[in-house]
Amino acid sequence: MRSGVTSPVWTYNGTVPGPLIRAEVGDTIIVHFRNQLPESTTIHWHGIRVPYEMDGVPDMPEPAVKPGGEFVYRFVADTAGTYWYHPHLNSSAQVGWGLYGALIVEDPKDSAAFGDDLVLVLSDMAVDDEGALNAADEGGQFGDLFGREGNLLLVNGRVLPHVKARAGKPQRWRIINAARARYFSFSMHEEMFTRIGTGNGLAERSRKVTRITLVPGERADVVFTPAFKPGSVATLQWLPVSRGYGTEAGGPLDLLQVKTVPDAPVVPAPIPAHLRDIERIDVSRAVQRTLEFTISTEDRRLQMGFNGLPYEHSIPIHAKVGEAQLWTIVNRTAFSHPFHLHGFSFQVVGAEIPEWRDTVDVAVNETVQVAVMFDSRPGMWMYHCHILDHAEAGMMGEIHLE
Ligand code: C2O
Ligand code: CU
Repeated sequence: MRSGVTSPVWTYNGTVPGPLIRAEVGDTIIVHFRNQLPESTTIHWHGIRVPYEMDGVPDMPEPAVKPGGEFVYRFVADTAGTYWYHPHLNSSAQVGWGLYGALIVEDPKDSAAFGDDLVLVLSDMAVDDEGALNAADEGGQFGDLFGREGNLLLVNGRVLPHVKARAGKPQRWRIINAARARYFSFSMHEEMFTRIGTGNGLAERSRKVTRITLVPGERADVVFTPAFKPGSVATLQWLPVSRGYGTEAGGPLDLLQVKTVPDAPVVPAPIPAHLRDIERIDVSRAVQRTLEFTISTEDRRLQMGFNGLPYEHSIPIHAKVGEAQLWTIVNRTAFSHPFHLHGFSFQVVGAEIPEWRDTVDVAVNETVQVAVMFDSRPGMWMYHCHILDHAEAGMMGEIHLE
């Protein structure tokens, strides 16, 4: 795309991403929402525990907000984490047009331990030379199957922005993948990132990593310790990552610049190895389920779903309040799928470091087991693939929690 060209986008309050919502644990968040778009929409609060009425899924139980309509979202932020918000109706198109934003819930204790943070919302947009956004259904069924990636990579809504760093001075980065389909993977020199958590708060232990990969919907909480020469500019690149058949093209691509400014030498405080205790969900008497991502192209009609059924024919999974469930999520399709659950965070069985999550990648020919504790809030809760083109093509299901 040429520079100086403008593109019409959809926004919350006029910006992409939408306003950053920051709260502390225990705060009540109240969002007065008015829909001035030409179509119905909702706001889903991705990853955070909300009451069933506030989950933003059309008719579960509140109807979608019609053009000109209003709704007040209200919930208590009871768990620290890096969350985000986006529509849950025609979501691939609406997210692709610019509707997403970050929601940070801070625990004052860990702000003291890790210092100021920087929120990085990663996304992409599909724009032509004249600045027009590609049609939301670009590529038809192939677009649905492959997932639509944009040609403009955005960090906080900007192309190749820069952040300032002071050599040796750690920064906490809360990174959110808000793209409709793109996986984001990037790396820097050795030992520059210490991963301290997911979007759902701190992990049990910190770990040094050189590469970070985030699937759509996923977040990472990392401490970045710049070790560049003062006065230098380093570029963080998006790296090609396979998410299945024919998806590994193009890259590396420039994503973000880090400008290191001179400053008095700092000796960074060590990041604790142990961050918090995470109790394992007891699965000894858990109800077991198998969920398999499925794709069929019978009669040349693409149908995506779980266990052979697209969303409109899906049979809700039953669960009772107080019950633990152990889900085996199977992927024998030719594409990777980021699995996402609403309302409850889960633990990946056998994870090297215990942590809470709400989104996990299930790569081609892999099986992932997750343990969930349905501790409260009866209702109908969604699970789905977070490649939003897949979700809209039927890869969604419901839990009926009684
Ligand atoms: Cu972030 Cu049901 O979605
Ligand atoms: Cu998928």
